[in-house]
Amino acid sequence: MAEAGPLDGATLELDVGGPAHGGSCVARHGDPTSGRAVFVRHALPGERVRAVVTEDRGGSYCFADAVEIVSAAPERVEPPCPHAGPGRCGGCDWQHASGAAQRALKETVIRDQFTRLARLELGDLLGGVEELPGGLLGWRSRILWALDRDGAHGLRKHRSHDLEPIDHCPLAQSDIADFPVLAGDADLGRATGVEQALGTEPEAALLVHSPGSGRQARGRRPPDRLRVVRGPEVLHHDVRGRTFGVQAGGFWQVHPAAAETFAAALLDAVAPRPGEHVLDLYAGAGALTAPLAEAVGPLGSVLGVESAAAAVADAAANLADLPNASVQRARVTAESLAALEQSPDVIVLDPPRAGAGREVMQALMALAPRVIGYVACDPAALARDTAVALSAGWRLTSLRAFDAFPMTHHVECVARFEPPSG
Ligand SMILES: C[S@@+](CC[C@H](N)C(=O)[O-])C[C@H]1O[C@@H](n2cnc3c(N)ncnc32)[C@H](O)[C@@H]1O
Repeated sequence: MAEAGPLDGATLELDVGGPAHGGSCVARHGDPTSGRAVFVRHALPGERVRAVVTEDRGGSYCFADAVEIVSAAPERVEPPCPHAGPGRCGGCDWQHASGAAQRALKETVIRDQFTRLARLELGDLLGGVEELPGGLLGWRSRILWALDRDGAHGLRKHRSHDLEPIDHCPLAQSDIADFPVLAGDADLGRATGVEQALGTEPEAALLVHSPGSGRQARGRRPPDRLRVVRGPEVLHHDVRGRTFGVQAGGFWQVHPAAAETFAAALLDAVAPRPGEHVLDLYAGAGALTAPLAEAVGPLGSVLGVESAAAAVADAAANLADLPNASVQRARVTAESLAALEQSPDVIVLDPPRAGAGREVMQALMALAPRVIGYVACDPAALARDTAVALSAGWRLTSLRAFDAFPMTHHVECVARFEPPSG
């Protein structure tokens, strides 16, 4: 166990400043400008709070939970979930803020990440974080319940393997908001969690998670092994008048309006022209590939690249009626991009949280497309990749942000990059 740092367990009275990426706000212990940074959860900008330090490993910052609000911000609301609060469920970050305040916090974080990591002031380029239909609760189409070795269930606490015992999550759609009855049909074995996932079918899929095999870099756990024990093996989702089938454990946007919203924003951003050739990187089951293929028409084409075999198989079925679209199984790397036979007019990418990275960004700019469209689930990764584009003379010419994860700190962005002008 790590040795307690100098402030571990201490109660501090703090004036809370702006939001940090990850669902906390920054305060200073001691001098208001040069004091140690304290990342305070359960607080809002402008508040004065008493906060207990939860983690201090020395260095220039530590973490704390606001346990008493001395003076509250006007945006503060009573958290609708009884499990939200200091030391409780780690699934949500902003239950104590109104919806408008949550979106404003996310906008501040995006602007801040671009200033710090891309040295770019967004100004009017970002219009604010757009709301998705459906409100703050009841939106999650999948939920992973954690299981303890002794069989207890709940959701994980923040930065912890400990469980908050929970039977009902109000963020989930009503059909999956309650912990499932496991009535002996699920052989749980060494299960670490059970997941419920919904598509358009009436029954949810129930999946059992157990520890994956193999080794991962940097001591990370290998991805879980997933087993569907009840309900459909393949879930269906409707987007822009098409139905997509996706393995129950495969990637699909969790907010029911997200795939449609991001596809529309991406099409707006890159404005594909009939006859153009598009490269769709990190294509998943083809949620963006299909609308792009429809937009470029029979004289154009879309080539998707995706590393997960199951997603590639799903994409083949989902794109079967679009002869101008295909998804090939490959990892997106600088080398795989350099080996492409055809130069794309348009590149779109929708990478996982780590973003594309310097080498992939450089390789895709070297393909000299007319435009690059980027769907990003982490504004820090997007800002880092933007820095690479800007340093090569490319321009960020459009940026929209969507609150596809209400109550949490997560936010999705859709960006357009254009090559150096002239
Ligand atoms: C955020 S999802 C996007 C999927 C799809 N565009 C959609 O809208 O549903 C990212 C996808 O990238 C895939 N992926 C992750 N790393 C990859 C890599 N290095 N090369 C290719 N695909 C990768 C994942 O399997 C996942 O399907």
